Amino acid sequence: MRKHLLSIFILFTLLSTVYGANEFAVCTVRGIGSTTYSQLHGEIFLGYDGNGNLFVDAQLVGTMFTANALVVHNTGDYSDTTFSSSSIFNPNGNVFGCDVIGVLGDVEPTATTLTASNRKIEGTTSMIGMTLAVYQNALGCSTGSVGYATMGPIIGKCIIGIGNTNASLTPRPVTFTPNITNGGVNGASYGNADSDTAQSAYVRMFPTSKFPNTVTPFTGSIFFELLDKVTGDIRITASFVALNIGVNATHGFHIHTFGDQINVNGLSLGPHWQSKTPVQTHNLPAVTGRHWGDLGNLCIYDSFNVTYYKYTTTYIPYTNLNNIIGRGIAIHAKADNGTDTSFGDRIAYGTIGMIVNGQDPDVPISIPNSIDFPIEPTCEDLPIQTTTTSTTTDSSTTGEPSFAIKLKSTFFVLVSIVISIAIIQF
Ligand SMILES: *[C@@H]1O[C@H](CO)[C@@H](O)[C@H](O)[C@H]1NC(C)=O
Ligand SMILES: *[C@@H]1O[C@H](CO)[C@@H](O)[C@H](O)[C@H]1NC(C)=O
Ligand SMILES: *[C@@H]1O[C@H](CO)[C@@H](O)[C@H](O)[C@H]1NC(C)=O
Ligand SMILES: *[C@@H]1O[C@H](CO)[C@@H](O)[C@H](O)[C@H]1NC(C)=O
Ligand SMILES: *[C@@H]1O[C@H](CO)[C@@H](O)[C@H](O)[C@H]1NC(C)=O
Repeated sequence: MRKHLLSIFILFTLLSTVYGANEFAVCTVRGIGSTTYSQLHGEIFLGYDGNGNLFVDAQLVGTMFTANALVVHNTGDYSDTTFSSSSIFNPNGNVFGCDVIGVLGDVEPTATTLTASNRKIEGTTSMIGMTLAVYQNALGCSTGSVGYATMGPIIGKCIIGIGNTNASLTPRPVTFTPNITNGGVNGASYGNADSDTAQSAYVRMFPTSKFPNTVTPFTGSIFFELLDKVTGDIRITASFVALNIGVNATHGFHIHTFGDQINVNGLSLGPHWQSKTPVQTHNLPAVTGRHWGDLGNLCIYDSFNVTYYKYTTTYIPYTNLNNIIGRGIAIHAKADNGTDTSFGDRIAYGTIGMIVNGQDPDVPISIPNSIDFPIEPTCEDLPIQTTTTSTTTDSSTTGEPSFAIKLKSTFFVLVSIVISIAIIQF
């Protein structure tokens, strides 16, 4: 009897290890601050090693660094520029030091990896959707001299997104050991299946390699404001500068499965965020049964070449594991007319960061009162103009199902195996 219990325990432990091993997050760093560091860019990969510790690989280029501290802060507000030691992600409330969960450790050009125990990319202490900051200097956890000021200013940052497990789309460095199979389920997430962890969210958008305009810099942000945790009412507001200069064109606008910006053409965002059971098909708001991520179109402009979006909906799952934190957003080259071949390339992309406790972003998105929005962002009644710059059609509407559903079914399969084996053994 005891032997059987032991073997079940061992089996469950092994299965749990496999279950956890596919979690994979990625953070695309961009330099900030002084011009010295504006060239800093690269990817930081996060996954678990075989012992359940977080394995971090920082593939950064374009700076003069010798050694840099990697620190996660407790917000995914990309407009926030006021980070301090008290904004470090610290769910255990520890005194500043190397055991604070947000303090990952130091990397350097010849030692780009580090291993950190007790750090998570799923569950209630998940770092998905938070800001990962690269500091100018090392923190020196290994040498014992530790102080926030030691690290100097932040020279680059990114929002930790759910990684696309398709290795051909998101090539990972050979040093990245966590066990990710091509097309495997990715359990990386923010939230907990047993509690309501819904939060507001913010996205800073960046041009992809498919962005047509190279003269005026494109900028833009999106705010998902959780109006009501019970009803799940969300107001989405967004504004974009220089999406199209001098052309009021219409652009498809969607939430994608992964907050993965590795592919500069935006393909690593994966398909539209969707449920597989029941199956959803691509459509415009407010068609029921459309993909969760189908936000319709951007088509409202002012006379200063600024594009606006505003839409309030309860359609997007916003609680528990089915939430938007850490996923991706794409702006497409052409109008979305409700068919999955209409909207073309991904010309801008971003990773959805978390804003906790109903706060506003530090730099709010302001929409002039004079601008009217149609009830649904279909742009049907507006003069839809499409640009001629788009070439390829990106059939991005099928693929990886929402991980929450797959995760649950994987878990149930594993539990069923354990129970069946237990029954057979007894
Ligand atoms: C990765 O998964 C394969 C197949 O399940 C297994 O044989 C291998 O030991 C795993 N490697 C690691 C590092 O966990
Ligand atoms: C991975 O990406 C490649 C290139 O787009 C695609 O052909 C393939 O179908 C994808 N595989 C999975 C499992 O999504
Ligand atoms: C774009 O739309 C705005 C608001 O309707 C209008 O003022 C502006 O002239 C339009 N620009 C072009 C190029 O059509
Ligand atoms: C909008 O873009 C057009 C075309 O480039 C330009 O002529 C116009 O000055 C721009 N408007 C503003 C307010 O920047
Ligand atoms: C939608 O756009 C596609 C691609 O441009 C086109 O083939 C199709 O006819 C359009 N459908 C409708 C209903 O406008």
